Amino acid sequence: MAAPFLTFEGLDGSGKSTHLRRLAAWLESRGESVCVTQEPGGTDLGEALRSLFLDRRYRTDGRIEALLVFASRRHHLLERIEPALAEGRAVLCDRFTDSTLVYQGVGRGVPAELLLSLDEVATGTRRPDRTLLFDVPPETARRRVGSEERARSGEGVTRFDAEELPFYQRVRKGYLRLVEAEPERFRVIDSSGPREATFSRVLASVADLFPDVRFPQSGAAGGDAPGEAG
Ligand code: TMP
Repeated sequence: MAAPFLTFEGLDGSGKSTHLRRLAAWLESRGESVCVTQEPGGTDLGEALRSLFLDRRYRTDGRIEALLVFASRRHHLLERIEPALAEGRAVLCDRFTDSTLVYQGVGRGVPAELLLSLDEVATGTRRPDRTLLFDVPPETARRRVGSEERARSGEGVTRFDAEELPFYQRVRKGYLRLVEAEPERFRVIDSSGPREATFSRVLASVADLFPDVRFPQSGAAGGDAPGEAG
């Protein structure tokens, strides 16, 4: 079986990044070769674009954001993701095109057709083999990352921290609509409860993609690698 391309999606504070790192450590401890990466970012150019993208000193709109993030994505796909898969390494990527469809599309109101044309240019509409959507109520996600406090204090704040709750409510709905459109690619993981329970769901949702790895029968995660909130 070819090495899988997995993406982790959800609101900031949904727990996706914590569980991505934990799954990577779990797989590596069982002999799998894994490439852990993120968007925007993942390459030198991508990380430079990420800083510009998140910096709220620049006045942008949803289309400018989409252009930045798709430029980063093309570089990332060509320079990092496809080469890792070609070497037989599983790719665990924190966010990908689905983020753009919901944050810039549903959140900012950029028409889906425009985003899909950019996607065609940037990636040839490349899709992951599996996408784990970490689903939590937006209120919970906001609380976990302390966005409101950061937005108030102005410290370490990104352009997305400054968004109000209705933006995140739209983004969550956008994600759930993507799941309806492509149920075979997505696994929705309820990440509002205890971390161990969430990690068990993560393992169960990828087990079929790693035939050489023994996964826990009951989905019990075992005690390795502590998690963290957010
Ligand atoms: P992160 O904190 O999960 O790394 O994501 C950084 C922020 O960038 C997050 O608030 C979501 C946003 N984002 C978009 O708006 N569009 C995109 O295409 C991506 C990849 C991220």
